[in-house]
Amino acid sequence: MVSYKELGLVNTREMFARAVNGGYAIPGYNFNNMEQLQAIIQACVETRSPVILQVSSGARKYANQTLLRFMAQGAVEYAKELGCAIPITLHLDHGDTFELCRSCIEFGFSSVMIDGSHYAYADNIALTKKVVEYAHANDVVVEGELGVLAGVEDEVSAEKHTYTRPEEVEDFVQKTGVDSLAISIGTSHGAYKFKPGQKPEIRLDILAEIEKRIPGFPIVLHGSSSVPPELVQTVNKYGGKLEEAIGIPEEQLRAAAKSAVCKINIDSDGRLAMTAAIRRVFAEKPAEFDPRKYLGPARDLLKELYKRKNIEVLGSANKA
Ligand code: G3H
Ligand code: 13P
Ligand code: ZN
Repeated sequence: MVSYKELGLVNTREMFARAVNGGYAIPGYNFNNMEQLQAIIQACVETRSPVILQVSSGARKYANQTLLRFMAQGAVEYAKELGCAIPITLHLDHGDTFELCRSCIEFGFSSVMIDGSHYAYADNIALTKKVVEYAHANDVVVEGELGVLAGVEDEVSAEKHTYTRPEEVEDFVQKTGVDSLAISIGTSHGAYKFKPGQKPEIRLDILAEIEKRIPGFPIVLHGSSSVPPELVQTVNKYGGKLEEAIGIPEEQLRAAAKSAVCKINIDSDGRLAMTAAIRRVFAEKPAEFDPRKYLGPARDLLKELYKRKNIEVLGSANKA
């Protein structure tokens, strides 16, 4: 058992309290490799933003949990080297079992998500509560979820959104003891969030209703990539095929961040940025075969994307 505190990581308690009071959101950025992690840390140091580093089950399978944890530990030192010891949380994204959450906590994670949203309400409560009890005994925080996002989530796919029911949130929060709550208000994972012709709009009215029931309680938005058209165009210009990819308008995320939403998860936009940069190098310099020559530009574009998100969308810049 290693405590995240020995690694220089923090849980989200103070981050979220400040974010709720200050009307901004902390970025939840996923990483699977060194270049993504470097881009996240560089962007957050340069904008003086706290950050939540997210590890999904897919990331654990791809990169190995041990490597990812030591990379996060290295990121704490790396941030200092870059000139600012920003608060860094290591978070399990979409944990699906108690055992997985426990293993991450014992391994140095400072925050875990237990996503029981696909279960019946009572079962979601029971599972979430069990994780909370174990996590809190180790001063680790827990994100729960109510409502189901359309698309693929936790390897479970749902055709339609099941919006979070505002009448359930108070009971859920009180019975489970969770520290933050992910809700479903029309965001979804991946690059295809709305159909062509559909108005891209999230249900800020449901968010307002939830906020009324649990004032000041930290709310989380998953599936919050905006799928910038210029990135999609660049990918397609250099041989990609991303037709009709549509994301969440940034002004709606900004509005959400100003209210009770204090964590916003973004992964797909970063994937698009890296792919756009790599495709461009492959198209313009076909003789290039040194991975640093295409992963480097991908890392740079990713960093610029995250800096802009922190400054213009989340409002987390200068909050470290
Ligand atoms: O919630 C989904 C995140 O974008 C992580 O995706 O499961 O493919 O690593 P992943
Ligand atoms: P996006 O696919 O919209 O980037 O969402 C990421 C996410 O919710 C990670 O948990
Ligand atoms: Zn998610």
